Amino acid sequence: MARKGWTERFLVWVALVPIIVTAITKRRGVPPACNDHSFVDALPANASIERVDFVESGNTYGEGPRNLMYPIQPTNLPDLCAVTIRVKSSPSSAYRLGLFLPVNWNNRIITHGNGGFGGGINWLDMGAGVRYGFAAISTDTGHSSTTGDVSWALNNPEMKTDWGWRSLHGSVEIGKKVVEEYYKKKINYSYYSGCSTGGRQGLKEVQISPDSFDGVLVGSAAWYTSHLNTWVSKVGTYNLPLTAPNHINTSVFPAMAKEVIRQCDLLDGVQDGIISAPDACSPDYTVMACDRPGVNQSACLTVAQIETAKKAYSNYRAAGGVLLYPGLSPGCENQWSQVLGQNMTSLYGLNYARYFLYDDPDWRWQDYNDSVPAYAARTDPGNATADDYDLAPFRDRGGKMIMYHGLADGLVPPKGSDLYWDRVVATTGGGNTTATQAFFRYFAVPGMGHCGGTAVDAPWNFAGPAQASSLGNDSWSVPGFRDARHDVLLALMGWVENGTAVDAVVATTWDKAANASTPVRRQRPLCPYPAMAKWDGKGEVDAAGSWSCGYVTFIYSSYLISLCLCVTK
Ligand SMILES: *[C@@H]1O[C@H](CO)[C@@H](O)[C@H](O)[C@H]1NC(C)=O
Ligand SMILES: *[C@@H]1O[C@H](CO)[C@@H](O)[C@H](O)[C@H]1NC(C)=O
Ligand SMILES: *[C@@H]1O[C@H](CO)[C@@H](O)[C@H](O)[C@H]1NC(C)=O
Ligand SMILES: *[C@@H]1O[C@H](CO)[C@@H](O)[C@H](O)[C@H]1NC(C)=O
Ligand SMILES: *[C@@H]1O[C@H](CO)[C@@H](O)[C@H](O)[C@H]1NC(C)=O
Ligand SMILES: *[C@@H]1O[C@H](CO)[C@@H](O)[C@H](O)[C@H]1NC(C)=O
Ligand SMILES: *[C@@H]1O[C@H](CO)[C@@H](O)[C@H](O)[C@H]1NC(C)=O
Ligand SMILES: *[C@@H]1O[C@H](CO)[C@@H](O)[C@H](O)[C@H]1NC(C)=O
Ligand SMILES: *[C@@H]1O[C@H](CO)[C@@H](O)[C@H](O)[C@H]1NC(C)=O
Ligand SMILES: *[C@@H]1O[C@H](CO)[C@@H](O)[C@H](O)[C@H]1NC(C)=O
Ligand SMILES: *[C@@H]1O[C@H](CO)[C@@H](O)[C@H](O)[C@H]1NC(C)=O
Repeated sequence: MARKGWTERFLVWVALVPIIVTAITKRRGVPPACNDHSFVDALPANASIERVDFVESGNTYGEGPRNLMYPIQPTNLPDLCAVTIRVKSSPSSAYRLGLFLPVNWNNRIITHGNGGFGGGINWLDMGAGVRYGFAAISTDTGHSSTTGDVSWALNNPEMKTDWGWRSLHGSVEIGKKVVEEYYKKKINYSYYSGCSTGGRQGLKEVQISPDSFDGVLVGSAAWYTSHLNTWVSKVGTYNLPLTAPNHINTSVFPAMAKEVIRQCDLLDGVQDGIISAPDACSPDYTVMACDRPGVNQSACLTVAQIETAKKAYSNYRAAGGVLLYPGLSPGCENQWSQVLGQNMTSLYGLNYARYFLYDDPDWRWQDYNDSVPAYAARTDPGNATADDYDLAPFRDRGGKMIMYHGLADGLVPPKGSDLYWDRVVATTGGGNTTATQAFFRYFAVPGMGHCGGTAVDAPWNFAGPAQASSLGNDSWSVPGFRDARHDVLLALMGWVENGTAVDAVVATTWDKAANASTPVRRQRPLCPYPAMAKWDGKGEVDAAGSWSCGYVTFIYSSYLISLCLCVTK
């Protein structure tokens, strides 16, 4: 009897097990199958699973210091399945992609871009993406390295191709299949978010595969590889060697930055320390000339040094006058150390020439000459350059794109984004800005440096790629302002999914620019180029409500400039 009772009870318990498991699963929201078998059927023959882990909410995930490019892991993640897949892209190359598959999925995917020449899965940006509910994807671009290390590319055209476009393209393709296999559902929308090299990757993918994304967010795009990475060498040579009489010591850059703000700030109509119309200003450094009475001798410029500064702002042109790449904009002098501050040209130029163009580790910056850009454009190793201006296929399938660039970017000149925009307007929009803006909008961000941050208390945070992690490793969106008015990704989603065009995005900064727990310092709208934010002339300058998008009449004439200088002195 007792035994039978035990069996009965046992059977009841057995019958209950699935119910209990289901209940626990539902409560925790754990999907039943976060293991190798969940994805295998979705993979092409040359892909294999490297790792699958279930991450319980509150935990961290990544590869730590083994991931040279992204050693910092996102923390406090939601419940998710983390997957790493390895893809053999050619007999001599392979790339990996990572996925975060959240339990609470929003039926959408987002692909995150990379940075510089770095190789590593961008788990950190994926951490921000997954908090919106996206299934997040990122590739290591086919190698493991820090941002300026390009030695992996030596004599390896296949690895160059992986970095150039193939790893991102393949990751989106495979990622989509894996996601649909895992959730057993169709993906509703596909998004992209990347800055710098990530901007280039996004533009390239739109150009070669217009169906990959419904919505694309690209920042500070290093799109013009063959021209930009040779300009980097050229501009570096202006300030070399260190012993040249025209060399400007990096210690003078902060004083130059201050002087440029003094001269250029007011030209946009508001004196707030932020240069919003850099193109209206051409800095006159004669006021810092060493032979001028009263000039600080530790922060002065000789005639030869003033010439160096002028060259840094100048457009780089081929012998016939054809534009190769535009120069730096006034207002980025705080970041000049990036391309003008070393005893050699920046690694982005030097190592591009060494390992991408010439496969010659002994190539020196002194070997640079003006025939290099043409060679780079002709050979374009890895097919990395994203210079297709015909976005009609992307437009015609309903794609929407938002591009932005910090006007105080001293690494990738913002005028490079103007150039891409202008050429798309000419090519795809038939010269019509309004028609182009129906699917593509470009936002200039006054006072923001490369991809994020500010040296002048400018509103810089709007949930662009890599911006969340500057506020914290578990941060996402714009803390305190998680809505489509302040978060450009949410705004892009509204444009793609509801047809709500993005007429402005309000950017935010805090008393401590990278600490969102300090009080909000300033908010201001970013406007679709060529419009810019216009102050109403009476409201609080630091409040977004006092601004609207419009056209500001610049004070161009040098007479008025000198007048303004007298007034502000
Ligand atoms: C391997 O993967 C790539 C995608 O990265 C694809 O283009 C290629 O055709 C695949 N090769 C084979 C042999 O399946
Ligand atoms: C996704 O698409 C399905 C089917 O088309 C639809 O029922 C669902 O509401 C969509 N979900 C979202 C989040 O848009
Ligand atoms: C730059 O200036 C600093 C002092 O401000 C000095 O120590 C350094 O040697 C200078 N560098 C060069 C290359 O002249
Ligand atoms: C002179 O310039 C140096 C270097 O920028 C700076 O540290 C110093 O404070 C300046 N002196 C004055 C009186 O402005
Ligand atoms: C150039 O500077 C780097 C450090 O920035 C140093 O390691 C290297 O030795 C310097 N090279 C020369 C030729 O001075
Ligand atoms: C220019 O530089 C390239 C690369 O260093 C070199 O191959 C070429 O011979 C140079 N051309 C001239 C005219 O010096
Ligand atoms: C490079 O990419 C373009 C599209 O951007 C494509 O038309 C071309 O065939 C590619 N070239 C090579 C060598 O892969
Ligand atoms: C530009 O495009 C807009 C929107 O498509 C259209 O309304 C306008 O007439 C066009 N302007 C010109 C000058 O063609
Ligand atoms: C992110 O984590 C790293 C490593 O733990 C830490 O050094 C860094 O300060 C964190 N970043 C922020 C913004 O808190
Ligand atoms: C689209 O509009 C609906 C209704 O206003 C709103 O609930 C939804 O959040 C919007 N979707 C996006 C992606 O903005
Ligand atoms: C951010 O600011 C808050 C409030 O002032 C402060 O408590 C916190 O320590 C700051 N965090 C960092 C990383 O500085």
